Amino acid sequence: MEPRPNATALPIKWEQKNRAKLDFIQAFISRPGMMLRPLTDKRYEEKAPSANGNNTATHESISEIMDGEPLVQYLRFLRRKSQDMKWVALTTFMQKHESDISKWLSDQDEKYGKLVLDSSMENPDYYSTGFHHQPGGFSDNEFSGLMYDVGLDISFATISPGGVADLVPNNKYERILDLGCGSGRSTEPFKARFTESEVMGIDPSEPLLRTAVKRAKQKNLVIDYYQGIAESTPFPDNHFDLLTATILFHEVPDDAALEILKESRRILKPGGILVIGDLLPYSESTAYDRWYDEWQVVHNNEPFFADAKTRDMNSLGKSAGFGKVEEDFRGKPSFFGDRKRVPGMPYIVTATK
Ligand SMILES: C[S@@+](CC[C@H](N)C(=O)[O-])C[C@H]1O[C@@H](n2cnc3c(N)ncnc32)[C@H](O)[C@@H]1O
Repeated sequence: MEPRPNATALPIKWEQKNRAKLDFIQAFISRPGMMLRPLTDKRYEEKAPSANGNNTATHESISEIMDGEPLVQYLRFLRRKSQDMKWVALTTFMQKHESDISKWLSDQDEKYGKLVLDSSMENPDYYSTGFHHQPGGFSDNEFSGLMYDVGLDISFATISPGGVADLVPNNKYERILDLGCGSGRSTEPFKARFTESEVMGIDPSEPLLRTAVKRAKQKNLVIDYYQGIAESTPFPDNHFDLLTATILFHEVPDDAALEILKESRRILKPGGILVIGDLLPYSESTAYDRWYDEWQVVHNNEPFFADAKTRDMNSLGKSAGFGKVEEDFRGKPSFFGDRKRVPGMPYIVTATK
């Protein structure tokens, strides 16, 4: 596997046989969609010539005629299998180098920002779902964060590194907080762009935050990382000029989404903005794209995927007390549909306090 420009530099070199395995898995993850999507589209046209392009087709009606198709079942099997293969390969690597990686992760350098842990924090119930079938989820063991982080390079080799940070207004921000910062990939571009700002990230997962701290050092960026949930943060009222969240909202249920918006409003200064980057809502997709996307829910364990993609962020933002909520639908028709991709995120919501 060629190291990606944004990859975390690990303390251990991949052996040739492991690199070859990950190279294969990387190709195996992207190829089924690239190769079988056109065949799936063609099969749909054959099976439902009148439904295709007809506005009365719904994702449910498409599901009825397509889910039993061997081609579709094969495509979903390949996607699930390739994801599982990734986790097995990464677990084997972590276990083999357990003591070196453990020592490296626990060796933190405060020069690149604080790591503020909260041992009393309890994860919300929905958090333990094991998104993307990652064994143990985001935080079950000390390697969970690094596994997720390295896994991103394998699954999404083409995601633009700038992300949401490239899309926010060019203002002066005293303090910026990234909600659901994960391993810091969405946080770092904010510090790189707004060098004078105090930049922070918050996430429930200690293993992810420990990975984030290692990455900040590698990139020579000073970022403070906090353990916590976005529904209830340790920050005072009116504290931040800019809050941001990259692909957090599709991993939380509706009631949590509302709580996160309310908490965001509390900690934003008057006039401050919350900028969310996430997956394109179904309102912007065709019924066919919506049906095609639904493999994510079961086969990739994304239980809140459909909720998030049908969520009305505009009225939810208003319910949370935001004065103005704007939506920018950028990528069409879908993020995972192997169609047109846009730099950064396909769907941006900006809420102003
Ligand atoms: C798909 S990851 C995105 C991570 C990061 N923003 C990125 O772009 O790489 C979603 C992140 O949201 C975090 N998360 C889930 N529920 C959360 C919550 N209630 N509050 C804060 N973070 C949460 C997870 O731990 C995970 O790191």
